[in-house]
Amino acid sequence: MIHQLLKGKRGIIFGALDENSIAWKTAVKIFEEGATFTLTNAPIAMRMGKINDLASQCNTQVIPADATSEQDLQNLFTKSMEVLGGKIDFVLHSIGMSPNVRKDKPYGDINYEWFLKTLDISGLSFHKVLQTAEKLDAMNEWGSIVALSYIAAQRTFPDYSDMAQAKAVLESIARSYGYRFAKLKKVRVNTISQSPTKTTAGAGITGFDVFYDYAQMMSPLGNATAEDCANYIILMFSDYSRMVTMQNLMHDGGFSSTGITDDLINRLSK
Ligand SMILES: NC(=O)c1ccc[n+]([C@@H]2O[C@H](COP(=O)([O-])OP(=O)(O)OC[C@H]3O[C@@H](n4cnc5c(N)ncnc54)[C@H](O)[C@@H]3O)[C@@H](O)[C@H]2O)c1
Repeated sequence: MIHQLLKGKRGIIFGALDENSIAWKTAVKIFEEGATFTLTNAPIAMRMGKINDLASQCNTQVIPADATSEQDLQNLFTKSMEVLGGKIDFVLHSIGMSPNVRKDKPYGDINYEWFLKTLDISGLSFHKVLQTAEKLDAMNEWGSIVALSYIAAQRTFPDYSDMAQAKAVLESIARSYGYRFAKLKKVRVNTISQSPTKTTAGAGITGFDVFYDYAQMMSPLGNATAEDCANYIILMFSDYSRMVTMQNLMHDGGFSSTGITDDLINRLSK
Protein backbone atom coordinates (compact mmCIF):
# COMPACT_ATOMS: atom_id res chain seq x y z
CA MET A 1 0.00 0.00 0.00
CA ILE A 2 2.40 2.70 -1.18
CA HIS A 3 0.96 5.74 -2.98
CA GLN A 4 3.73 8.37 -2.81
CA LEU A 5 1.18 10.46 -0.88
CA LEU A 6 3.91 12.61 0.67
CA LYS A 7 6.16 13.05 -2.38
CA GLY A 8 8.10 16.32 -2.17
CA LYS A 9 7.11 17.05 1.44
CA ARG A 10 9.67 17.77 4.18
CA GLY A 11 9.27 16.97 7.86
CA ILE A 12 10.61 16.42 11.35
CA ILE A 13 9.88 13.24 13.34
CA PHE A 14 10.28 13.23 17.13
CA GLY A 15 10.35 10.12 19.31
CA ALA A 16 11.75 7.08 17.45
CA LEU A 17 13.52 5.09 20.18
CA ASP A 18 13.46 1.51 18.85
CA GLU A 19 11.62 -0.64 16.27
CA ASN A 20 8.51 -0.75 18.48
CA SER A 21 8.12 3.05 18.71
CA ILE A 22 5.12 4.47 16.90
CA ALA A 23 7.46 7.17 15.50
CA TRP A 24 9.85 4.51 14.15
CA LYS A 25 7.11 2.66 12.26
CA THR A 26 5.78 5.99 11.01
CA ALA A 27 9.21 7.13 9.77
CA VAL A 28 9.65 3.93 7.72
CA LYS A 29 6.25 4.37 6.08
CA ILE A 30 6.67 8.11 5.51
CA PHE A 31 9.96 7.37 3.75
CA GLU A 32 8.15 4.89 1.49
CA GLU A 33 5.54 7.58 0.74
CA GLY A 34 8.23 9.79 -0.78
CA ALA A 35 8.88 12.43 1.89
CA THR A 36 12.23 13.60 3.23
CA PHE A 37 12.64 14.31 6.95
CA THR A 38 15.02 14.62 9.85
CA LEU A 39 14.81 12.44 12.96
CA THR A 40 15.20 13.71 16.49
CA ASN A 41 15.19 12.49 20.06
CA ALA A 42 16.49 13.55 23.48
CA PRO A 43 20.29 13.16 23.64
CA ILE A 44 20.01 10.66 26.52
CA ALA A 45 17.47 8.51 24.65
CA MET A 46 19.70 8.48 21.60
CA ARG A 47 22.46 6.82 23.57
CA MET A 48 20.08 4.02 24.59
CA GLY A 49 18.14 3.70 21.36
CA LYS A 50 18.97 2.68 17.83
CA ILE A 51 17.89 5.81 16.01
CA ASN A 52 21.03 5.87 13.84
CA ASP A 53 20.01 2.54 12.25
CA LEU A 54 16.67 4.11 11.34
CA ALA A 55 18.41 7.19 9.93
CA SER A 56 20.49 5.12 7.54
CA GLN A 57 17.44 3.08 6.53
CA CYS A 58 15.60 6.33 5.70
CA ASN A 59 18.63 8.02 4.16
CA THR A 60 18.53 10.88 6.63
CA GLN A 61 20.16 12.55 9.62
CA VAL A 62 19.54 12.64 13.34
CA ILE A 63 19.52 16.04 15.03
CA PRO A 64 19.43 15.62 18.83
CA ALA A 65 16.99 17.82 20.77
CA ASP A 66 15.52 17.71 24.23
CA ALA A 67 11.94 18.73 23.42
CA THR A 68 11.75 20.78 26.63
CA SER A 69 14.67 23.01 25.54
CA GLU A 70 13.74 25.99 23.37
CA GLN A 71 17.38 26.34 22.35
CA ASP A 72 17.56 22.71 21.16
CA LEU A 73 14.30 23.16 19.25
CA GLN A 74 15.56 26.30 17.50
CA ASN A 75 18.67 24.43 16.45
CA LEU A 76 16.57 21.47 15.28
CA PHE A 77 14.25 23.52 13.08
CA THR A 78 17.08 25.66 11.67
CA LYS A 79 19.28 22.66 10.84
CA SER A 80 16.34 20.66 9.47
CA MET A 81 15.51 23.43 6.98
CA GLU A 82 19.18 23.49 5.91
CA VAL A 83 19.46 19.71 5.54
CA LEU A 84 16.10 19.32 3.77
CA GLY A 85 16.54 22.40 1.58
CA GLY A 86 13.43 24.36 2.54
CA LYS A 87 10.57 24.93 4.95
CA ILE A 88 8.78 22.13 6.77
CA ASP A 89 5.46 20.53 5.72
CA PHE A 90 4.89 18.12 8.62
CA VAL A 91 5.96 17.51 12.23
CA LEU A 92 5.24 14.42 14.34
CA HIS A 93 5.41 14.92 18.13
CA SER A 94 5.59 11.35 19.49
CA ILE A 95 6.91 12.06 22.98
CA GLY A 96 5.82 10.90 26.41
CA MET A 97 7.51 10.38 29.76
CA SER A 98 6.44 10.51 33.41
CA PRO A 99 8.98 10.01 36.21
CA ASN A 100 6.04 9.28 38.57
CA VAL A 101 4.81 6.46 36.31
CA ARG A 102 8.32 5.21 35.75
CA LYS A 103 9.01 5.05 39.49
CA ASP A 104 5.56 3.63 40.32
CA LYS A 105 4.54 6.55 42.56
CA PRO A 106 0.92 6.19 43.75
CA TYR A 107 -1.37 9.05 42.60
CA GLY A 108 -1.96 10.03 46.24
CA ASP A 109 1.76 10.34 46.96
CA ILE A 110 2.90 12.12 43.86
CA ASN A 111 6.24 13.90 43.57
CA TYR A 112 5.39 17.41 42.34
CA GLU A 113 8.79 18.11 40.84
CA TRP A 114 8.34 15.00 38.74
CA PHE A 115 4.76 16.02 37.97
CA LEU A 116 6.08 19.28 36.48
CA LYS A 117 8.59 17.26 34.48
CA THR A 118 5.80 15.06 33.14
CA LEU A 119 3.83 18.13 32.08
CA ASP A 120 6.89 19.75 30.51
CA ILE A 121 8.05 16.71 28.53
CA SER A 122 4.68 15.26 27.56
CA GLY A 123 2.50 18.37 27.25
CA LEU A 124 4.24 21.73 27.20
CA SER A 125 6.93 20.52 24.78
CA PHE A 126 4.22 20.51 22.11
CA HIS A 127 3.68 24.24 22.64
CA LYS A 128 7.44 24.78 22.49
CA VAL A 129 7.63 22.93 19.17
CA LEU A 130 4.76 24.97 17.72
CA GLN A 131 6.06 28.30 19.02
CA THR A 132 9.56 27.60 17.70
CA ALA A 133 8.14 26.71 14.28
CA GLU A 134 6.14 29.95 14.24
CA LYS A 135 8.98 32.19 15.42
CA LEU A 136 11.39 30.79 12.83
CA ASP A 137 8.68 30.93 10.16
CA ALA A 138 9.64 27.31 9.51
CA MET A 139 6.30 25.92 8.26
CA ASN A 140 4.98 25.92 4.70
CA GLU A 141 1.34 26.90 4.17
CA TRP A 142 -1.04 23.93 4.56
CA GLY A 143 1.55 22.14 6.68
CA SER A 144 0.35 19.58 9.22
CA ILE A 145 1.47 19.00 12.82
CA VAL A 146 0.37 15.94 14.81
CA ALA A 147 0.93 14.86 18.42
CA LEU A 148 -0.03 11.49 19.89
CA SER A 149 -2.47 11.29 22.78
CA TYR A 150 -4.41 8.74 24.81
CA ILE A 151 -8.03 8.50 25.99
CA ALA A 152 -6.91 8.90 29.62
CA ALA A 153 -7.19 12.64 28.83
CA GLN A 154 -11.00 12.17 28.97
CA ARG A 155 -11.51 9.09 31.16
CA THR A 156 -9.73 7.75 34.21
CA PHE A 157 -7.24 4.92 33.86
CA PRO A 158 -5.78 4.76 37.39
CA ASP A 159 -2.22 3.68 36.57
CA TYR A 160 -1.83 6.35 33.87
CA SER A 161 -1.30 8.80 36.76
CA ASP A 162 -0.08 12.33 35.88
CA MET A 163 0.24 11.39 32.20
CA ALA A 164 -3.55 11.88 32.06
CA GLN A 165 -3.09 15.57 32.91
CA ALA A 166 -0.23 15.88 30.41
CA LYS A 167 -2.42 14.45 27.63
CA ALA A 168 -5.25 16.86 28.54
CA VAL A 169 -2.76 19.74 28.22
CA LEU A 170 -1.49 18.35 24.92
CA GLU A 171 -4.98 18.14 23.41
CA SER A 172 -5.84 21.63 24.62
CA ILE A 173 -2.66 23.06 23.08
CA ALA A 174 -3.64 21.48 19.74
CA ARG A 175 -6.92 23.44 19.82
CA SER A 176 -5.44 26.77 20.95
CA TYR A 177 -2.38 26.70 18.69
CA GLY A 178 -4.39 25.12 15.89
CA TYR A 179 -6.54 28.26 15.79
CA ARG A 180 -3.49 30.53 15.76
CA PHE A 181 -1.53 28.59 13.11
CA ALA A 182 -4.57 28.25 10.84
CA LYS A 183 -5.06 32.02 10.86
CA LEU A 184 -1.35 32.74 10.44
CA LYS A 185 -0.29 30.17 7.85
CA LYS A 186 -3.09 27.69 7.19
CA VAL A 187 -1.09 25.14 9.19
CA ARG A 188 -3.23 22.48 10.86
CA VAL A 189 -2.63 21.05 14.31
CA ASN A 190 -4.25 17.86 15.62
CA THR A 191 -3.79 15.11 18.17
CA ILE A 192 -4.39 11.42 17.43
CA SER A 193 -5.67 9.41 20.39
CA GLN A 194 -4.19 5.97 19.85
CA SER A 195 -5.14 2.52 21.23
CA PRO A 196 -2.78 0.94 23.79
CA THR A 197 0.29 -0.12 21.82
CA LYS A 198 3.17 -2.37 22.90
CA THR A 199 6.12 0.05 23.03
CA THR A 200 8.67 1.11 25.65
CA ALA A 201 6.45 3.97 26.88
CA GLY A 202 3.33 1.75 26.84
CA ALA A 203 4.90 -1.18 28.66
CA GLY A 204 6.17 1.20 31.38
CA ILE A 205 2.63 1.58 32.75
CA THR A 206 1.63 -0.80 35.57
CA GLY A 207 -1.02 -3.26 34.42
CA PHE A 208 -0.43 -2.39 30.75
CA ASP A 209 -1.04 -5.96 29.54
CA VAL A 210 -4.43 -6.01 31.25
CA PHE A 211 -5.67 -2.78 29.79
CA TYR A 212 -4.27 -3.74 26.40
CA ASP A 213 -6.38 -6.93 26.51
CA TYR A 214 -9.38 -5.04 27.89
CA ALA A 215 -9.19 -2.44 25.09
CA GLN A 216 -8.86 -5.28 22.58
CA MET A 217 -12.11 -6.79 23.86
CA MET A 218 -13.86 -3.41 24.07
CA SER A 219 -12.98 -2.29 20.52
CA PRO A 220 -15.24 -3.69 17.79
CA LEU A 221 -12.32 -3.53 15.33
CA GLY A 222 -9.73 -4.52 17.94
CA ASN A 223 -6.80 -2.33 19.03
CA ALA A 224 -5.21 -0.14 16.38
CA THR A 225 -1.59 -1.21 15.90
CA ALA A 226 1.43 1.09 15.57
CA GLU A 227 1.38 0.38 11.79
CA ASP A 228 -2.28 1.44 11.62
CA CYS A 229 -1.36 4.60 13.51
CA ALA A 230 1.47 5.29 11.04
CA ASN A 231 -0.99 5.03 8.14
CA TYR A 232 -3.37 7.47 9.83
CA ILE A 233 -0.54 9.92 10.47
CA ILE A 234 0.36 9.73 6.76
CA LEU A 235 -3.22 10.62 5.88
CA MET A 236 -3.04 13.58 8.29
CA PHE A 237 0.22 14.77 6.69
CA SER A 238 -1.18 14.39 3.17
CA ASP A 239 -3.24 16.88 1.18
CA TYR A 240 -6.32 14.63 1.65
CA SER A 241 -6.93 16.03 5.14
CA ARG A 242 -6.38 19.73 4.43
CA MET A 243 -9.47 21.00 6.25
CA VAL A 244 -9.00 18.97 9.45
CA THR A 245 -7.58 20.99 12.32
CA MET A 246 -7.90 21.56 16.12
CA GLN A 247 -9.22 18.00 16.56
CA ASN A 248 -8.50 15.14 18.90
CA LEU A 249 -8.93 12.23 16.48
CA MET A 250 -9.85 8.88 18.00
CA HIS A 251 -7.82 6.09 16.45
CA ASP A 252 -8.93 3.20 18.59
CA GLY A 253 -10.95 0.59 16.68
CA GLY A 254 -14.19 2.03 18.10
CA PHE A 255 -13.21 1.80 21.80
CA SER A 256 -14.25 5.37 22.68
CA SER A 257 -17.84 4.90 21.42
CA THR A 258 -18.44 1.46 22.90
CA GLY A 259 -20.32 0.76 26.14
CA ILE A 260 -19.85 -3.01 26.27
CA THR A 261 -19.15 -5.77 23.75
CA ASP A 262 -20.30 -9.37 23.29
CA ASP A 263 -16.70 -10.44 23.96
CA LEU A 264 -16.77 -8.79 27.35
CA ILE A 265 -20.26 -10.10 28.20
CA ASN A 266 -19.15 -13.65 27.37
CA ARG A 267 -15.98 -13.22 29.38
CA LEU A 268 -17.81 -11.89 32.46
CA SER A 269 -20.84 -14.21 32.31
CA LYS A 270 -20.72 -16.88 34.97
N1 LIG B 1 2.14 2.97 23.63
C1 LIG B 1 0.88 3.29 23.89
O1 LIG B 1 0.10 2.50 24.41
C2 LIG B 1 0.37 4.66 23.51
C3 LIG B 1 -1.01 4.88 23.42
C4 LIG B 1 -1.47 6.16 23.09
C5 LIG B 1 -0.54 7.19 22.90
N2 LIG B 1 0.80 6.94 23.00
C6 LIG B 1 1.74 8.05 22.81
O2 LIG B 1 2.53 7.83 21.67
C7 LIG B 1 3.73 8.60 21.80
C8 LIG B 1 4.93 7.74 21.45
O3 LIG B 1 5.13 6.74 22.42
P1 LIG B 1 5.47 5.23 22.06
O4 LIG B 1 4.37 4.39 22.60
O5 LIG B 1 5.87 5.09 20.65
O6 LIG B 1 6.71 4.94 23.04
P2 LIG B 1 8.29 5.21 22.90
O7 LIG B 1 8.83 4.97 24.28
O8 LIG B 1 8.85 4.41 21.81
O9 LIG B 1 8.39 6.77 22.54
C9 LIG B 1 8.41 7.81 23.49
C10 LIG B 1 9.52 8.74 23.04
O10 LIG B 1 9.57 9.96 23.81
C11 LIG B 1 10.94 10.34 23.80
N3 LIG B 1 11.23 11.38 24.80
C12 LIG B 1 11.13 11.26 26.16
N4 LIG B 1 11.57 12.40 26.74
C13 LIG B 1 11.93 13.25 25.73
C14 LIG B 1 12.45 14.58 25.69
N5 LIG B 1 12.69 15.28 26.80
N6 LIG B 1 12.72 15.13 24.47
C15 LIG B 1 12.49 14.44 23.33
N7 LIG B 1 12.00 13.18 23.31
C16 LIG B 1 11.73 12.59 24.49
C17 LIG B 1 11.63 9.02 24.12
O11 LIG B 1 13.02 9.06 23.92
C18 LIG B 1 10.91 8.09 23.15
O12 LIG B 1 11.54 8.07 21.89
C19 LIG B 1 3.73 9.17 23.22
O13 LIG B 1 3.19 10.47 23.21
C20 LIG B 1 2.75 8.22 23.92
O14 LIG B 1 2.18 8.79 25.08
C21 LIG B 1 1.28 5.70 23.29
